[in-house]
Amino acid sequence: MSTAYSNDEIAALQEKAKRHLWLHFTRMSSYAESDVPVIVRGEGQYVFDQHGKRYLDGLAGLFVSQIGHGRTEVAEAGARQAAELAYFPLWSYAHPQAIELADRLSAMAPGDLNRVFFTSSGSEAVESAWKLAKQYFKAIGQPARYKVLSRSIAYHGTSMGALAITGLPDIKEPFEPLPAGGVRVPNTNFYRAPQFVADDLTAFGLWAADEIERAIQREGEDSVAAVFLEPLQNSGGCFPPPPGYFQRVREICDRYGVLLVSDEVICAFGRLGYYFGSERYGYQPDIITFAKGITSGYAPLGGMLVRDALMEPFSQGQSTFLHGVTFAGHPVSCAVAMANLDVFEKEDLLGNVRAHEGAFRSTLEKLNDLPIVGNVRGDGYFYGIELVKDKATRETFDNDESERLLRGFLSHALFDAGLICRADDRGDPVIQLAPPLTCTQEHFDEMEQILRSVLTEAWTKI
Ligand SMILES: Cc1ncc(COP(=O)(O)O)c(C=O)c1O
Repeated sequence: MSTAYSNDEIAALQEKAKRHLWLHFTRMSSYAESDVPVIVRGEGQYVFDQHGKRYLDGLAGLFVSQIGHGRTEVAEAGARQAAELAYFPLWSYAHPQAIELADRLSAMAPGDLNRVFFTSSGSEAVESAWKLAKQYFKAIGQPARYKVLSRSIAYHGTSMGALAITGLPDIKEPFEPLPAGGVRVPNTNFYRAPQFVADDLTAFGLWAADEIERAIQREGEDSVAAVFLEPLQNSGGCFPPPPGYFQRVREICDRYGVLLVSDEVICAFGRLGYYFGSERYGYQPDIITFAKGITSGYAPLGGMLVRDALMEPFSQGQSTFLHGVTFAGHPVSCAVAMANLDVFEKEDLLGNVRAHEGAFRSTLEKLNDLPIVGNVRGDGYFYGIELVKDKATRETFDNDESERLLRGFLSHALFDAGLICRADDRGDPVIQLAPPLTCTQEHFDEMEQILRSVLTEAWTKI
């Protein structure tokens, strides 16, 4: 099927996009002189732009398209549901799609995470988890607990509450003051570990976990409600947890009565080869937040999976969790999620990730011979490549260099070369990859070859 638009159609779309569309987290001025990239179609691991040019979707859109693009059976499940019952709220009512999906997710989730509260996005899921933690502690007679700990540079969403949990100063500053209570603890970036634990991954991990205990003590034991952690931290460029890290965090949370929220908006639904990232790393959260991959993007959906005990105060008398959003658990999205999970099962996508993740890693590690590549890290189908100015000293780029390298060159060059990925400098400069879970060696090779040629050119521009 041809996807190329005519020159007139392309010109009209460009004009409308530049005049009326506001892109997210985008410097709009950068499109004053160049075209807005317009993606019109997807098929498997690839997407196509308005000129018919093909791109390998190395970021699954935005960590979303687990099963890949163009799956008609999932699209048709959504269309059937829209014809049957397009919408009804979860405010006081239920519909079969939300019931069936909640049941299925509860059966998949680790331990006694048996209650599902749907939202329509990841930020809403994070926001809901904080609100639940606050109201829960009020309900059980611990009203002083409202603070939330999270890791430096971690991204947990953009609504005001989620932003207060997010650990990226630059994207918070314009919106301050934010809701009170967000407290930062160290992340698990071993490549940039403090000197005294720089040679010992396990010691580093235990130090980072113990920093959570120190933060709880510093803030006041009775004031902390929850710790929000991704299984593998995305922002900053894929920081896996060191061995023993989460086990120590769980102990600390239990000791101080603090809830452990596993923010799995990216890490759930196969990204790490398991339905949930917490399963991969062997820990039991009190709440899992999810979104993105649950529908592979065929419709928007998010939510939180909650331990039975957290629901108890709300299952008696006049008590109500005073929170909700109109499109949460939308029937079309729930039907799509069920069809998406059917594809996971039918095609054993978790098995595919587990079978090929070693090959993905070793293919990306070939890039270690380039002078600009400092560190390749990640797990499953989720990798970050940290770029450095000096491999031996690990010296990073200053702001101007980052600006020239990432915004001025790499982002465009990678896209022009046919690879969708992310060049990110919210921490140290990294390139991030999170392709559809259907990818195999041919796609890993394509990513490696494009990255090799573009990064080689980038080095000549420093
Ligand atoms: C870990 C994490 N939490 C929350 C969010 C926010 O999700 P959304 O963009 O759907 O609001 C994201 C988005 O990337 C995320 O990665």
